[in-house]
Amino acid sequence: MEGEWRKSILVTGGAGYIGSHTTLQLLLDGYKVVVIDNLDNSSEEAVRRVAKLAGEYGHNLSFHQVDLRDKEATEKVFSLEKFDAVIHFAGLKAVGESVAKPLLYYNNNIVGTLNLLEIMTAHNCKKLVFSSSATVYGQPNEVPCTEDFPLCAMNPYGRTKLFIEEICRDAHQADPEWKIMLLRYFNPVGAHSSGNIGEDPRGIPNNLMPFVQQVAVGRRPELVVFGTDYKTKDGTGVRDYIHVMDLSDGHIAALRKLFETKDIGCEVYNLGTGQGTSVLEMVAAFEKASGKKIPLKLADRRPGDPETVYASTEKAEQELNWKAQYGIEEMCRDQWNWARKNPWGYGSPETD
Ligand code: NAD
Ligand code: WQD
Repeated sequence: MEGEWRKSILVTGGAGYIGSHTTLQLLLDGYKVVVIDNLDNSSEEAVRRVAKLAGEYGHNLSFHQVDLRDKEATEKVFSLEKFDAVIHFAGLKAVGESVAKPLLYYNNNIVGTLNLLEIMTAHNCKKLVFSSSATVYGQPNEVPCTEDFPLCAMNPYGRTKLFIEEICRDAHQADPEWKIMLLRYFNPVGAHSSGNIGEDPRGIPNNLMPFVQQVAVGRRPELVVFGTDYKTKDGTGVRDYIHVMDLSDGHIAALRKLFETKDIGCEVYNLGTGQGTSVLEMVAAFEKASGKKIPLKLADRRPGDPETVYASTEKAEQELNWKAQYGIEEMCRDQWNWARKNPWGYGSPETD
């Protein structure tokens, strides 16, 4: 669309895993993108690679190393450019760390978001897409999870998502000019098909697929499977894995909805595939895609883990006109391509 060509989007956390893939899709769609990130869990190399992958659109990307908790520095970015909307990915996301360091999580995720919302209000930029999470469903009593399920966070990380959702609902209630999309992601995996950008967590990975990937390239000896006695098809936990490129496209669809719908208010959408896959099924798919054997160590359940979680995708399909395209084969193929080309993440030399 002609008008969208010049729209300028602020992407917080745009150097991170989901933010970098979404930034690339935004650029290719003709948006101008300004990324702010404190590089706490990411590297500027990701931003450089995104600009390169965007080819002729790469010059529409700029980057500021800014912490959202630094209000003055964030404000400065808003004074340089007028944004049509903000996609807010920036936050800490490790569940275990959030239990050990709750104040850090509340400070980073909530204070950071409050600063952002206040600055957006001051600059009359009231369109927001926020990264929420399926974690707000806690241990769901039934599946698939629909957006109207009761919400119940199981840990401080989850509570930051829940609180921020509530803060957004209150902000909109007080000022109906706000248009907000709360996107509840299920389990993002995979990478861009080039294999040049992907997930590169600092330290020991918390999530399944980054761990599997590090076993495959020899960085770790085995995968510890958390729980084999769940009432699922093979005893291991079942989740809704979604390709990060599908997730990125979901953000573009949400943004379009924000721009095109007059009274959208504050809406919540699941971004998942609607398919449940067990840990062992995921490992088997990855072994097939990579040709690598993943040694397993069977262990007890991880405290707080739900048994089975997958999304109802109906609302996003109907209202955002968006549906995930990829299955676990493509997720594992692209995850492996990224791992193979970058066994040490962004610390690996670029191969093309
Ligand atoms: P990520 O850690 O790769 O990206 C988050 C980015 O935010 C990082 O680059 C980090 O450096 C930056 N950041 C953190 N605090 C900041 C601050 N105060 N100021 C500026 N930058 C800051 O994580 P991701 O997987 O890309 O997740 C993006 C968002 O999606 C997060 O909010 C996360 O909670 C949410 N989410 C992720 C998943 C998942 O499994 N990956 C699932 C559901 C929701
Ligand atoms: C998936 C499955 C594990 C690691 C977490 C957050 C959630 C969201 C996504 C941000 C489970 C099993 C895992 C391992 C294993 N993030 N597993 N060995 O727990 O569904 O969700 O990430 O919002 O909030 O809680 O994802 O990838 O950690 O686990 O067996 O080394 O893999 O038990 O069944 P989870 P996950």
